[in-house]
Amino acid sequence: MSVEFVPAVVPPARPAPPVRLADGLAYGGDYNPEQWPREVWDEDVRLMREAGVNLVTLGVFAWGTVETSDGVRDWSWLDDAVALLHRHGIGVDLATPTAAPPSWLLSAHPEIAPVLADGYREPPGGRNAWCPASPLYRRYALRHVAALAERYGHHPAVRLWHVGNELGGGNARCYCDVSAAAFRHWLAARYGSLEAVNAAWGTAQWGHRYGAWDEIDPPRGRHGAPNPGLFLDYERYSSDALLAHYLAEKEVLERHSAGPVTTNMMVGAGAQVVDYAAWAPHTAVAANDHYTLVDDPLREQDLAFAADRMRGMSAERRPWLLMETSTGGPSWQQRNRAKEAGEIERNALAHVARGSDGVLFFQWRASRAGAEQFHSAMLPHSGTRSRVWQEVVTLGAHLRALAEVQGTRVEPARAAIVVDDVAGWALQHGLKPHRGLRYGRELRAWHRALWERQVLCDVVPPWADLDAYDLVVVPTLLVVDDETARRVAAVPERGGTLLVTYLSGVCEPDAQVRTGGFPGAFRDVLGAWSDELYPLQVGEQVLLDDGGRVEDWTERVHLDGADAVVRYTSGPLAGGPAVTRRAVGRGAAWYVSAALPPDGVDRVTARLLDDSGVPRTVEADPGVEAVRRVGDDRSYLFLLNHTGTDRKVAAAGTDLLAAAEVGPVVTIPAGGVRVLREPPRPGASADGSAPSALSASSASSASSAPTLRPEDPR
Ligand code: GLA
Repeated sequence: MSVEFVPAVVPPARPAPPVRLADGLAYGGDYNPEQWPREVWDEDVRLMREAGVNLVTLGVFAWGTVETSDGVRDWSWLDDAVALLHRHGIGVDLATPTAAPPSWLLSAHPEIAPVLADGYREPPGGRNAWCPASPLYRRYALRHVAALAERYGHHPAVRLWHVGNELGGGNARCYCDVSAAAFRHWLAARYGSLEAVNAAWGTAQWGHRYGAWDEIDPPRGRHGAPNPGLFLDYERYSSDALLAHYLAEKEVLERHSAGPVTTNMMVGAGAQVVDYAAWAPHTAVAANDHYTLVDDPLREQDLAFAADRMRGMSAERRPWLLMETSTGGPSWQQRNRAKEAGEIERNALAHVARGSDGVLFFQWRASRAGAEQFHSAMLPHSGTRSRVWQEVVTLGAHLRALAEVQGTRVEPARAAIVVDDVAGWALQHGLKPHRGLRYGRELRAWHRALWERQVLCDVVPPWADLDAYDLVVVPTLLVVDDETARRVAAVPERGGTLLVTYLSGVCEPDAQVRTGGFPGAFRDVLGAWSDELYPLQVGEQVLLDDGGRVEDWTERVHLDGADAVVRYTSGPLAGGPAVTRRAVGRGAAWYVSAALPPDGVDRVTARLLDDSGVPRTVEADPGVEAVRRVGDDRSYLFLLNHTGTDRKVAAAGTDLLAAAEVGPVVTIPAGGVRVLREPPRPGASADGSAPSALSASSASSASSAPTLRPEDPR
């Protein structure tokens, strides 16, 4: 059984040169001409031009319509589609269609389909129906990718390669025997010996000691209490296995083409299906699919969080690409909400404000048939008489007016939130003091408080360089290695402000608890520690002396150099510290031992901004979003109003959407957006940004290569 495709250690990525996908910002979406008769194609390109579309994603699910039987390929329709788009000046983001293996392959080799933890093998009919470790699937996929790349590798229409589709969406974890063998191979490379695995996982508990590699299985079954070390390593292995598949396709594409390569991720708040931040350095431009959720009352903040996370995935904070979003309801939610008037543009420009160099939708034209026949599109079923179409045309015109923004970067943030999928996986699985905690909760809570104050923050992986930030927030980072803990502890030592929340630093990378008190790795820098965790019961509340009420989580905290800022006033911990602050020279280290409600997070955030001196981009009420993108000698202020009433902001410049000079006070209409080209700001640095109070090093660290390291202990 071959397991050669799964590396234990991801090779370091080469820094990729900047990517220019279109003249100006990219605009378009998934285009599926294979679903339509030829006469419709002519209308498609005519309307694409009317809307200003300059890039479409082609061929995502087109394996079976090209390779119609084993080794037999009919390229004619794809040749024609690429040629037609090229004639009309529309670039192609050409997908390898490997997300959807053809029916003949699935039927001849059902063993390539993924197996769930309970042993159920997925039948054909969905997508990503393949096991990431399957050598057979890999062979067929790479054979087709090679044929595709040979054919179109030098076609002038092809601006970007799009590997598969949402890798991991449906096959992020496979529990088949092939995967089990690959996992053992991965473990052997990571640990070197079976003794090391036994020691790392603490297999003496429940008598689970392994005497041979073959005794190790994936965490199968439904008991919900796998060994935490085994569980976490299977998550890591699964992410690496899919990344290995991406890298294998990328390598084939690069053999035949000099074009940039990417894949569309699914990045939002909380733990992702795979560790995308570790993948991002392997993409020429990081790409994301983002859909707002109907039951999220703060969906614009979820969008901002995802966008800040995309930007934070590259050490240089380079532009990324919104690969998919929707013009209205998708069809996979329970009740798929139409967007309000203006919301398509407000959402789209929020992504651009936070670093996307384009706006692509799923999808160009609404399908008549198939599983997604009711999914929204740029061109809806009702055609050009629709409001959506009118908004799509307006958005296209506005993106053209913003063409000069392409290639600029979001100004360097002075605040960062540290996020790690590995910590999220660990927090949310297995037997825990509180099994209902969601990783996204604290991440969103602290991001919201900054977002509502128009404070820009990068959402960064734990291996990011933290030296450029004046404020670093570390929410529920359950698992942390010593090296990361050291860099986090350095923040207050060099005069910055650090905030760590409960359930951070508690475990080592192998999921073993750090003994001596919580929050293990951060006790010393915080000058505070807990000897006992007090998760609260459903409906139970504990009062704080700042007027707040806590649900879900409290701890018995002891001061060891820190001061109590907020204390518990009810319950078994009454009188004890809930929030602490340790002054460290000019810096400060905060510990939040409780799951604070939004008003409590707001009060602490106000203090953090005082401590750190991190400024707001503008002074405005919550609901106004403000982000600046900067170029060599240019700066653009994006102002978005998510509220139902007009808002005023002190700002001035050329409103690029209205083509008018505005200021010194600008009105942002209810639900509207303004983008100002600002006059040069006095004291701005070469990239147009004001320098950080602390870090003269921010410019140099911003230009360093991505820091994904082969020796990374994760
Ligand atoms: C994902 C997929 C698309 C489509 C959309 C629908 O993002 O990549 O193919 O299914 O969802 O929202």
